[in-house]
Parts: sequence; structure tokens; C-alpha cells
Amino acid sequence: MSARDRSDALVLFGATGDLAYKKVFPALAAMVRRGALDVPIIGVARERRSVDTLRDRVRDSLEHAGAFDRPTFERLARQLRYVAIDYKDPRTFEELKRSTGEARRPLHYLAIPPNAFATTIAGLRGAGCTTDARVAIEKPFGRDLASATELDRILHATFPERAIFRIDHYLGKEPVQNLLYFRFANSFLEPLWNRDLVNSVQITMAEEFGIEGRGNFYEQAGAIRDVLQNHLLQVMAILAMDGPVGTDPESIRDEKARVLKAIEPIDPMHVVRGQYRGYRDEPGVAPGSTVETFASVALRVDTWRWAGVPFYVRTGKCMPQTMTEVMVRLKRPPRDIFGEHIPCPDYFRFRLGPELVIALGMRIKKLGITSGDTMVGQPTELRAMEDPRTEALPYERLLGDAMRGDPSLFARQDAIEAQWRVVEGVLGDVTPLHFYDPGTWGPAQAERLQPLGCMDPTTIAGP
Ligand code: BG6
Repeated sequence: MSARDRSDALVLFGATGDLAYKKVFPALAAMVRRGALDVPIIGVARERRSVDTLRDRVRDSLEHAGAFDRPTFERLARQLRYVAIDYKDPRTFEELKRSTGEARRPLHYLAIPPNAFATTIAGLRGAGCTTDARVAIEKPFGRDLASATELDRILHATFPERAIFRIDHYLGKEPVQNLLYFRFANSFLEPLWNRDLVNSVQITMAEEFGIEGRGNFYEQAGAIRDVLQNHLLQVMAILAMDGPVGTDPESIRDEKARVLKAIEPIDPMHVVRGQYRGYRDEPGVAPGSTVETFASVALRVDTWRWAGVPFYVRTGKCMPQTMTEVMVRLKRPPRDIFGEHIPCPDYFRFRLGPELVIALGMRIKKLGITSGDTMVGQPTELRAMEDPRTEALPYERLLGDAMRGDPSLFARQDAIEAQWRVVEGVLGDVTPLHFYDPGTWGPAQAERLQPLGCMDPTTIAGP
């Protein structure tokens, strides 16, 4: 990729929004700090504001994230511009065009609700802002298969595929990348990474907090659309995919898409949806809302490698703790020589957040002589990696990649469509909703889904 191909302006739609405040500005500051972003940054939003108001918001955001340092902020502030846009008025897009100045290859980053994508892209095209430009869009990519396909049609009517970057920020996370690396940089894993030795795979994304004032958004989403269809199925694809045949980005994306296509659509019998008590009192939430804030599903991957191995995926808001973790449980030894009756003693554990852990769980004998002269064991973990640092900023990596035109860490349309096919049959009210108290691991009914007896909350929460 030559320097000429780098985006020479970043146009941030949704500059006054929540995502920009919480994630994007700290990421831009980190890029400026390491000298990786020196192009004009044009904040775009509906409000009539001055660029100074935007600078104040950036400062607040950096302070809020604990990422404020004066020299970086001042450099970033000098790069900022602001354009107030009326999405229906073509003249405001012309003003945007003027404010990108000499830029030949801007990146338009649409951190805005999906229902505004079509008008925004039409406005950009009308003002001549799309020639040689790139576009980055945020998940959710549609609300179901049909709308995802329609969104793709809208994007392709203006941009070629190489200029489209679909952000699933989980793919920019360090621990998620490490999962891919760990799988394919080691030879010992492959012989056991299949139905012969793996008993079950469990992916849990738990959040201690609720919807944090995002009622309007969340009412349109729910846990399945918000994180399961995208972040968690992407993690599952990395766990379940075959080794890529090439080293180029498309080879990895090909294998991920291939395994996603092999996941069977979720059977409504294998879903438990929950809603935390108090959700209906949140601002923006309908009093009788049946939107789920918790979902637990069992999935099957119909391939030679995984036939018969259940993949359990679950996520919830208002859980006892915030953590994302993968447990790959191995089958028990063929005979129980020591009479300990432990269902699945060995496992791989990947903590994907807030800290990073890669561990192998196993049993060892307790030292010494025990009564009756039987051998007594205890569980232990070999930790290959442990890093308590909170997440490096995925947006720093992703926006940098999009500006360089590198698609590796972005979702591809065929994968997204496969992900919608997996969840489509259980969206909305197809399955019953159960209630749970905040601070618990979800509705009691969720335990029904775990037929292998390998998932008790203590192991889910991690040792
Ligand atoms: C977002 C969801 O995509 O991911 C949120 O909309 C969720 O509901 C968030 O809280 C979790 O991401 P992270 O990086 O904070 O774990």
C-alpha cells in the first residue's frame, strides 16, 4: 500500500454522538500521539455548533477516558473542523466538500444510526465527495438478512467493495486477534481442536451495567441483534474456522465466512431470552417491551471438524460482572481411574476482556499421602499469557487500517449475511421472554440450555 493510497482526510459523521465521545475521540488522540494521524478531521453532525464546541467535547471525552495530555490534545484540536449538516439539504454537503479542501481520498466514517446511511451516501455522492473516497460503517449492518442485503446494495451503488469498511470493533481487539494468532501459530492445537477431543465450546459476554441511557437504540436491537449476531458470532468463527490457505487478508476472511455458513440456523428450542427487572423503566423503553437484554443459545456447526459439538453463546446486561470469555472444554479421559467423577476437567480458557488471559486448565495430583492411599487431584491452570491492562483501543487500529485501505479486520458482506441467517429465525418475539434480577446470571430457564452439565456459573465466571 503506497502512501498515496492513504486517506488524506477523516470525515466523522456523528461527531456529537455517544460512540464518538466514548470510543472514537480517545482513539484519534492515541493515533495523533504516536504520529499516525496528521490529516484534517472534519466532525459532522446536525447541531449548529462551532468548531470550538467540538474541541471542548473532544477535551471532555479525553478527560473522561483518562487519556488527556495537553500536547496531543492541542495537535488534535488544530486538525479539527466542524460542519453542521442538514441531511436533506444538498448545499450542506457542498459545504462539507469545501471543508475537505484538497483531500483526494477522504474516509467517510458513518458513526450514525443505520437509517441515516442512505441519505448520507446520496448527499455525499451528489456533492462529489465519493470519488476515490472510502466509507466506514458501524454495526449493526441491517436489522435482518433483507435489510443487510439492501444496505449492501446502497453501499455498492456508490462505492466499490475495496472502499467499504464494515466495522465490528471486536475484530480490532487485541485479545480477539490473539485468539486467531494462538490458533494458527501453534501446531499442538490442531490435532485436538475438533470433535474427537472437544466436548463443548462456550462463549460468554457478560456486562455488569445495563443499557446506559441507550433505550431508544436498544429497543430496536436487543441482545441478539446488538452483540450476538455480530461480535459473538465473529469470535465463534475465529474459534471454529479452518486454517487459511493463504497469508492474504481474503484467505482468512474466506475461512471465516465458510464456517459461518456452516452454522445451522438457531432452533427456537435452543434459545433462552431474558430481560432484567427494571429495564422497562429505563428512558426510551416501552412499558411493555419484550426486547431481550439477555440471550443464551446453543449452536451447531455442521462440518466434519465440529459435528456434534455444542457451541453455547450467551450474553447479558446487568450480570454479576463484566467479562468476555471463551471456554473450550475437552472430553474427559476414557476411564475414571481415580474415581473423581469430574465431567470435563480440561479446558482452554481465553479471557477476551476486560483483561487478556490464555490458559490451559488441567488436573494435577495433590502432594503427599492421603487417607486410604487414593490419589486426590486438584485443578490448576497453565497461563500462557496474562495481561491485566484494559483494552487497547480497537478503534485506533481499525480507523488506521481503514485509512490505509487494509480490509483484514473488517467484516465481509457474505459473513454478515451468514450471521443473519443464523439468528433470523429467533429475532423478535418468536421465543418466550423470562425476567431476571440485575446482578444474577440471567433467568433460571437459561440453565435448561446446558445439557452437558459443564456450565455452572462459577466456571462461567472464571476461576
Ligand atoms: C457494542 C454494543 O457494540 O458493544 C454494546 O452496542 C456493548 O451494547 C459493547 O456494550 C461492548 O463492547 P466493549 O468493547 O465495550 O466490550
